[in-house]
Amino acid sequence: MPPSPEDFQYEMNIVLSESVEPLLEESMSQWRVFGCQRPREPPYFYEDGLLLEMNLVAGVFECGSSCGKECASNRVVAKGICYPLEIFYTGKSKGWGVRCSADIPAGAFVCKYTGELRTDVEAEEMENDEYLFDLSNFIKMRKKYLKGTLDTGDEIVPLPFSDDELRKDDYHGRYLVIDGRCKGNVSRFINHACGEKINLVGQPVLTPPFSNGLFYDIAFFAIRHIPAYEELTYDYGYLKGDVNNRQLECHCGARDCKKWLL
Ligand SMILES: C[S@@+](CC[C@H](N)C(=O)[O-])C[C@H]1O[C@@H](n2cnc3c(N)ncnc32)[C@H](O)[C@@H]1O
Ligand SMILES: [Zn+2]
Ligand SMILES: [Zn+2]
Repeated sequence: MPPSPEDFQYEMNIVLSESVEPLLEESMSQWRVFGCQRPREPPYFYEDGLLLEMNLVAGVFECGSSCGKECASNRVVAKGICYPLEIFYTGKSKGWGVRCSADIPAGAFVCKYTGELRTDVEAEEMENDEYLFDLSNFIKMRKKYLKGTLDTGDEIVPLPFSDDELRKDDYHGRYLVIDGRCKGNVSRFINHACGEKINLVGQPVLTPPFSNGLFYDIAFFAIRHIPAYEELTYDYGYLKGDVNNRQLECHCGARDCKKWLL
């Protein structure tokens, strides 16, 4: 059985460490999300507290605490966990997992990934990489854009790297990863699933004044109605062979399971 869920420190938000401060300062001085983010006309991000469009890889922009009551509809992740989530033992093959004792409607915010913020280099040096969530979403988007596989409209979060640095993969040591191993919340217990069993998506959410293309929240939203006690899962997004010298068989149980998690 993997270590008991009590063997880590519960954190409602991402914890900053000294090592990431220079990187954060550098990126914040170049760009950060400012001011009111509430769209004045459709498409809105939320309706009745539910995310309207899933998989907005370009990010959901929420209003910060400096906005007034008129922006309450554009603050959902900021309100925190609203559903009764439970950590439970799924069995030997997957270890601990997460479920909810109430139904969750499609589009509802479930929880965000918290933990200690590390640089990618620090994360690479760690022996245990099971609880890492890497924040390279906007780097990947920019690279796709440079390759011509993403159109400009989707590419809206500037990064503190030049296009040349990105082309040469010369940005290592300068992006961030959330490490939920020793500190974190329920999110670090959510298991991977394939195809039909996936019920959550990890959505980048940016909130003023401290978000930018390197530092933002990953919030999990229900991609469909989830009946009470169904295990909560998302697609970790790795392909077989993505991580050198390691293979991990998938035990999600989906009819369309890809068989390999790594
Ligand atoms: C973020 S942790 C999830 C919580 C973990 N089950 C635990 O007990 O702490 C990721 C690890 O859980 C296991 N895991 C998650 N999804 C799995 C799946 N579909 N099949 C097999 N193992 C899985 C793997 O060991 C993976 O490295
Ligand atoms: Zn606002
Ligand atoms: Zn699977």
